[in-house]
Amino acid sequence: MYPKTRMRRLRATPQIRDMVTEYILTPSNFILPLFVKDGLAEKAAVKSMPGVFQHSLDSLVEECHRASELGVPAVILFGIPQKKDALGSEAYSPEGIIPKAVKKIKEELGERLLVACDVCLCEYTDHGHCAPLVDNCISNDEGVELYKKAAVEYAKAGADIIAPSDMMDGRIGVIRDGLDSEGFIDIIIMSYAVKYASAFYGPFRDAAESGFAAGPTDRMSHQMDYANLSQALREVELDIKEGADIVMIKPALPYLDVISKISGRFSVPVAAYQVSGEYAMIKAASQNGWLDERKIMMESLMAIRRAGATMILTYFACDAAEVLV
Ligand code: PBG
Repeated sequence: MYPKTRMRRLRATPQIRDMVTEYILTPSNFILPLFVKDGLAEKAAVKSMPGVFQHSLDSLVEECHRASELGVPAVILFGIPQKKDALGSEAYSPEGIIPKAVKKIKEELGERLLVACDVCLCEYTDHGHCAPLVDNCISNDEGVELYKKAAVEYAKAGADIIAPSDMMDGRIGVIRDGLDSEGFIDIIIMSYAVKYASAFYGPFRDAAESGFAAGPTDRMSHQMDYANLSQALREVELDIKEGADIVMIKPALPYLDVISKISGRFSVPVAAYQVSGEYAMIKAASQNGWLDERKIMMESLMAIRRAGATMILTYFACDAAEVLV
């Protein structure tokens, strides 16, 4: 006999399926990551991330217009300097690539687009690490002081959101104090609170030219071990206490359990970063004809949303917004 309880009643027509829909994706869920390289005359393709570019200032602004027209409310910027040094000084120079880029985007788009700036030194140091090296070790406290300087420079240039991705201890509090003491009390801090030491960042390091050239050969001393979950809760707790407005979890799809736990337990908005390796896997399989790119893109984004992220940083932001509008 057929059971009396039939789940299929609620799946039978497009109308009833729409009526029982629990989660909706909109372009306003997305934040588009963009790379901008100092001195570049024309945009350059990133090989391991088809469809992603290192931008010139002009092509960056074009891409911002495109995102904004599609209803994507925010971009997050990663800078690649012309010169790297041991202390990553281009990251916090007022004439650095990020302040230049923020000013230009704000001149062109003003209030129509929120500009977030990633704060880290790994793109700017000649050794490729997220903080200065002292005795060949990553120096937490020297890093934190420099992130504060960078955050203030980006805020002066007009950034709306500061997004520290370095994973040093205490940086959210120091950055918040730094911003507040310069009068930037309304600048939002979106903390990369739970950032795992992940091999899924591989293609990003091509795009951002942030591979290691000296010192430790991984980021295990500051990014999280993927065997841990309870540390993620502590990281979030600490960052909220220090003043984070939004907490981010990264990567996204392999870490849906973490997103779900954190969004269930804390009341701050949760963001998740669908990282370069997640993007590259979908692109590569699709280019081989093994997966349907459009369908997998939407399914993976919805899964991240369903797990509890209200914001998704994704290289698919414009492509997915095109599907949705
Ligand atoms: C910088 C930073 C990284 C990513 C975002 N910010 C790389 C890293 O920590 O090595 C990765 C993003 C991606 O893979 O798309 N610290």
